[in-house]
Amino acid sequence: CGIVGIVGHQPVSERLVDALKRLEYRGYDSAGLATLCEGSLHSRRAKGKLVNLEKRLKEEPLSGIVGIAHTRWATHGAPTERNAHPHIAEGVAVVHNGIIENFAELKDELAAAGAEFQTDTDTEVVVHLLARYRREGMGRGEAMHAMLKRVRGAYALAVLFEDDPSTIMAARNGPPLAIGHGDGEMFLGSDAIALAPFTNAVTYLVDGDWAVIGKTGVDIFNFDGHPVERPRQTSLAGAYLADKGKYRHFMEKEIHEQPEVVARALGYHTSFEGNRADTTSCMDFAGIPSLAISACGTAYLAGLIAKYWFERYARLPVEIDVASEFRYREIPLPPQSAALFISQSGETADTLASLRYCKARGLKTGAVVNSRESSIAREADAVFPIFAGPEIGVASTKAFTCQLVALATLAIGAARARGTATQDEAKALVTSLAEMPGVMGRVLNSIKPDVELLSRELSKCHDVLYIGRGTSFPLAMEGALKLKEISYIHAEGYAAGELKHGPLALVDENMPVIVIAPHDRFFDKTVSNMQEAAARGGRIILITDEKGAAASKLDTMHTIVLPVVDEIIAPMIFALPIQLLAYHTAVLMGKDVDQPRNLAKSVTVE
Ligand code: G6P
Repeated sequence: CGIVGIVGHQPVSERLVDALKRLEYRGYDSAGLATLCEGSLHSRRAKGKLVNLEKRLKEEPLSGIVGIAHTRWATHGAPTERNAHPHIAEGVAVVHNGIIENFAELKDELAAAGAEFQTDTDTEVVVHLLARYRREGMGRGEAMHAMLKRVRGAYALAVLFEDDPSTIMAARNGPPLAIGHGDGEMFLGSDAIALAPFTNAVTYLVDGDWAVIGKTGVDIFNFDGHPVERPRQTSLAGAYLADKGKYRHFMEKEIHEQPEVVARALGYHTSFEGNRADTTSCMDFAGIPSLAISACGTAYLAGLIAKYWFERYARLPVEIDVASEFRYREIPLPPQSAALFISQSGETADTLASLRYCKARGLKTGAVVNSRESSIAREADAVFPIFAGPEIGVASTKAFTCQLVALATLAIGAARARGTATQDEAKALVTSLAEMPGVMGRVLNSIKPDVELLSRELSKCHDVLYIGRGTSFPLAMEGALKLKEISYIHAEGYAAGELKHGPLALVDENMPVIVIAPHDRFFDKTVSNMQEAAARGGRIILITDEKGAAASKLDTMHTIVLPVVDEIIAPMIFALPIQLLAYHTAVLMGKDVDQPRNLAKSVTVE
């Protein structure tokens, strides 16, 4: 969910909605806002996307110069208008991002004492707790502090009290909150990009902090109620305000930005001097016995590809898992080892928790992130920025390839540090990486007709299987993830060699099998697996390179042919047709490509 608040000197409702638009990546199941107007709280809420709330506000405008607003990704309670935030009772309005884990027990207690609950959300207990403490005679700050002592779980909260027309209260434990300093106005937001048009001076709350935000400043307290100072920083978020340009969707734009953004990432992470080519962004890989990697979604799949690189080039064993498992698996991690956390947003709750878990065990931590102002970046020992620029489409594309650039350079750096690659070998790998932007540009210019043709086929299917070997295996999973995220077609990515151990049973003439097979050392084996599927009537779509197309004799339903590239950049190049296939299929099916149902770009709850 996304939160904004403004303590202003001019009407706030339009500006609140404007800021919410920049937070829609955090969820769009419903939206709402509340303002204080002539001494009382008023709210407007609407189910679905922000446009519905905007319509509501056109019909019934809301005045007021102090307000809070919310865009929701439902956790507890269906995405209905009734469950949309803000929740209001007895002169208290609350918006919340996170999960109040002990809400059931608090709800029973409050209901037994007479509170009337209007919604199915966990958030409403916060409203009733605050109302109860105020009724019992506590001041606003006192009530806030008492409430925070009772709730357990993750939260970013913004609160308006009807009897205080010039203040917003906020609290953070988990999901991020930035306070913006304006000119006679103050702001609150889930990130600095939401606040970028208003101010670039921000203060980030730390976990356990709560704040009283007035028109001209903010007082911050820690969990024990003692005043604390948090630094005021200049945010770079202004540069991140994005629009679609000439493209129909953000996702399409972001796919086509890849030659430029990977070039930026390469520029940062590699150097060419004289006849040397090297990586610049290294951790201390020389003495570590192993490397742990943790991430979610697409970032996790980038990590899986990196595992192949670290193991092959640097002879460094890699333990990798999705962050939601990693954090609870009780993995025996040697304290002398290091850990990498990959996250576009830098705010994913499970990934952040994995980072804290490793730090607490004495491991050196590195963050591969797009946002250098994020929680994961701030808490890691080393930061490896990916320079993808703002990624708005929920389905990750350019962040994935930029993550791969940063991870490839780290693996090459590790290989040098550990003496498993000579200077010349490292130079050859870096030189291959440098080819990537040019090849990406050529591929994006040439494959559209093939992809569009194939998308028509895929759009008629119910299930699709993606297979590959080596780094093409995680890429097969990424292909399946992209397709299911935005087209809602069921898709699975499998190791090509595993086909015969299960999924082959599904293969028939209705089941396309997308085979990702650059002409590498696995090619012949992957082609054998492809034959197994073809022999059972499977419709084969082969994504290969010019050498592979010449070598494969099979009459496939369709072949997408890419240029021959070095093995280390194949995953980034082969990612392009996979992303475009998902994109065009979803567009043909009339799906909401940038904001697929039920998903959110940044998930700050467990
Ligand atoms: C969500 C997004 C995915 C993303 C994942 C991890 O599920 O929809 O696109 O890969 O979170 O996000 P992160 O910001 O940590 O990379």
